[in-house]
Amino acid sequence: MIVCVCNNISDREIRQAADSGLATMSALRDDLGVGTCCGKCKSCAKTVLRKHLNESADRAPAMQAKSIAFQRSVQAA
Ligand code: FES
Repeated sequence: MIVCVCNNISDREIRQAADSGLATMSALRDDLGVGTCCGKCKSCAKTVLRKHLNESADRAPAMQAKSIAFQRSVQAA
């Protein structure tokens, strides 16, 4: 879905930007241009960003455990 109509920025692009390390609205604004025209998208963009960062944080322990298990299996082989 398009979040920022003025700059044609989708929720997917915001999530990808978050995955690449952008974790604040000012970073999104500087990198993607989100919210730099009319500003009506700021609330939605912030919601998408926060939700994705929270979901990523929730997944991190599980991914870390899988990574450790994989490293141990490689070392044992
Ligand atoms: S919709 Fe994002 S700046 Fe206008």
